[in-house]
Parts: sequence; C-alpha cells; structure tokens
Amino acid sequence: MIQTAIEAALEAGRFLKMSVGKFKHVERKEGQETNLVTEIDKKSEEIIITKIKKRYPHHDFLAEESGSHDIQSEYRWIIDPLDGTLNFTHGFPIFSVSLALEVKGEIVLGVVYDPNWDELYSAEKGRGALLNNKPIHVSNTGKLIESLLVTGFPYSIKSNPDNAIQHFNNFLMEAQGIRRLGSAALDLCYVAAGRFDGFWEVDLHPWDMAGGVLILEEAGGKYTDFRGFPTTIYNKQLLVSNGVIHDRMIEVLKKG
Ligand code: IPD
Ligand code: CA
Ligand code: CA
Repeated sequence: MIQTAIEAALEAGRFLKMSVGKFKHVERKEGQETNLVTEIDKKSEEIIITKIKKRYPHHDFLAEESGSHDIQSEYRWIIDPLDGTLNFTHGFPIFSVSLALEVKGEIVLGVVYDPNWDELYSAEKGRGALLNNKPIHVSNTGKLIESLLVTGFPYSIKSNPDNAIQHFNNFLMEAQGIRRLGSAALDLCYVAAGRFDGFWEVDLHPWDMAGGVLILEEAGGKYTDFRGFPTTIYNKQLLVSNGVIHDRMIEVLKKG
C-alpha cells in the first residue's frame, strides 16, 4: 500500500509541477475570497484516486475536492491533491501532494511529495520516517530563541484576526525566526526533517494534516492541541514541535 501511495503522489506531483501557469479556472471556495480551487487540484485528485482504486477498489476515500466516498471499508485514504493552492496560482514553487491511509481510525501510512524539490517524505506506523528513502529525525533545539518556527494563517483570518495575530506577535518576540510557507503538509515534514523546530496553526482540515502528522511522529516529533492535550486530525488546533520546545510553545500560546 505504501508503494501505491508513493506512485500516486509522484504522478500527481509531477502533474502539478508541469501545470504551473497553465490552469484556466480559479474558483473561490465556501464563500471565502482567498480559498481557491483550480481544475488542476481536481485533476490531481482524480489521478490519485484512479490509481488507488485500481489496486484497492473497496477502500474508502476522504478527499478535499470530491469529499467522502463512503463504502464502509476499514481502510480510508485521506487526500490533499494540492496543498498550497494559493502559492500554486501565483507560480510560487512551494506546494505538495499529501496522502494518508487510515485503518480503523488510525493513520498507518503517510506520504507527502514536494515536486519542486523532488522530495518524497514517507512513513509507515512504527517504522520511522524517510526523506527520499533516508531516515529523518526532528531537531534537538532546546531553546525557543534558537528555534525557527513556521505557521499558517487560517482563511477566516480577515473576519477573525485577533488570536492568530496575537500568537504570531508573541512568537516573534520569543523565537529566533518565523516562516510562513503556505503548505501545511510541508510545514509538518520540515519539522520532521529538523529544518523547523516547531509549527502551529488553527482551522486545518484532516487532509492538510493526515500524511504529515504520521511522518512527524515517526521522525520523533510531537503534536497536541494548544494546551498540550492529545489531538487528532479532526480537531482545529495543531501544535507541533521537536518535543523539546513543546512546553515553551504552550506557554507562549497561553499568553494570547
Ligand atoms: C492550505 C495550506 C496552507 C494553510 C491553509 C490550508 P490548501 O491548504 O495548507 O498552508 O495555511 O490553512 O488550507 O487550501 O492549499 O490545500
Ligand atoms: Ca491543504
Ligand atoms: Ca488542497
């Protein structure tokens, strides 16, 4: 199954890279001015689902663009066919494909592919995390002032800016630096690979997180809600770190 996921992510990712600057239709989602979808998002999803269905015709899917195809299987694929659509529409080369397989509610494999850097992140439950087939591990940075953090702003920020801006300000004052990439799946993988030390965001969807949280966990990282309690991909708060700076990040989030 991991092989199928990898093949699907590579094929979809290469299609995305080829399609930069070639999309024709941009729609706005859920009445939100900045939440975009193009025909390339939809085609990428079709590539992935077709490939998986060919091998596993009785599995379920939860896919961002086509929703839930529920046939009551114990196996459910969770798919973000293009994570970073806003970047993609501007030709800004930070976007990815994210896939995960959930079995009886537990994520057992995750694959995230970045076609621009040709970086393939993968993990199977209990078997560690890989970047292009080499093991990866989170950083061991212990101080917030030596930490490079990443975040994202929810699409709802224009109507509800307060907390997100407050958290951003508070972390700016305490961390070494903060970045905003625009692909939550890559944010998670970059923490897994030790490039970032921590990440926080609200209002993500299961498909933004599913592949990346397993990769993160298998790379030795930690994820919780903003108060430090265990969370799942179905919750709205996500705090991620190398584990070492987790409590300090919770303290900063408590301030805002
Ligand atoms: C978005 C990206 C972005 C995050 C947004 C997500 P999309 O996914 O992951 O980094 O800040 O909240 O919705 O819409 O490009 O698939
Ligand atoms: Ca996404
Ligand atoms: Ca998407």
